[in-house]
Amino acid sequence: MKSITVFAPATVANVACGFDIFGFAVENPGDELTVHLSDQPGVRILDIIGDEGRLPREAARNTAGIAIQTYLKHIGREDVGADLLLTKKMPLGSGLGSSAASAVAGVFAINELLGRPLQRKDLLPFAMEGERIACGSAHADNVAPSLLGGFVVVRSYSPLDVITIETPGKLFATIVHPEIEVNTKDARFILKNEVTLKNTITQMGNVAGLIAGLMKPDYDLIGRSLVDVLIEPIRSILIPQFNEVKQAALDNGALGCSISGSGPSLFALSGDQTTAETVGKAMQTAFAGAGIDSEAYVSGINQQGPKIIG
Ligand code: HSE
Repeated sequence: MKSITVFAPATVANVACGFDIFGFAVENPGDELTVHLSDQPGVRILDIIGDEGRLPREAARNTAGIAIQTYLKHIGREDVGADLLLTKKMPLGSGLGSSAASAVAGVFAINELLGRPLQRKDLLPFAMEGERIACGSAHADNVAPSLLGGFVVVRSYSPLDVITIETPGKLFATIVHPEIEVNTKDARFILKNEVTLKNTITQMGNVAGLIAGLMKPDYDLIGRSLVDVLIEPIRSILIPQFNEVKQAALDNGALGCSISGSGPSLFALSGDQTTAETVGKAMQTAFAGAGIDSEAYVSGINQQGPKIIG
């Protein structure tokens, strides 16, 4: 095989209470990446479509490029040449794990082209390198669900310990992306380094409650646990209409609603697709009330992760 085209899904990180430790993958949107093997060693980016020229074309500064470079170095195959064509099918700086999807597409594609020398879960550290150059922190709560599919818990970063949690068959995500941009680096910078014991106890209760709610499954418990007292109160000030949009989701039957990753997108979870679609429309109407255009995505939880599409 000389060439492959793959899709890697967008993700919702944090999932309200699990800052840097929870994330899940969605069916759409996502990124597409074609990788051609070449006789000339090294990783090159031939073109990027859909980014309006904003992403780095130099492989070492691009999330897909660096992920492939670190992977090739690790497996001792720096003799391999790889030419990339990346098609961004989701907005940048949106809180949908755009940099993570590109990095995952990169390592998944090259591992397939080389006959799968590594297992899927062992690709995670290379995809995390993409996050490090994109936002200065190698968090795994976008790359892990994009790579493994499903709902993922990052129990530990050192050593890396990632667990996939089963979710109810009927669980639908609504993501609404307002036409504003929030840079993850900035959204991390404004966070406080210290939290109170009281808030920590509340957050731990919700973290445990959400996992229990997903596994039982218990929809009311999922809803009660989709509460974030640590991060949302700080980051929500970066999102105009945040309270109105969240309230619109809850008023229209969502189990819960919070910021997707570092924002500005908001996500909501619902127990059926019709509710998830109604919730999306209500959230968009609430953004429109402040003159903000938005895009809504509704999908089940993507259990597959990346896939070969050509
Ligand atoms: N957990 C990360 C953050 C996700 O909230 O900064 C960024 O997409």
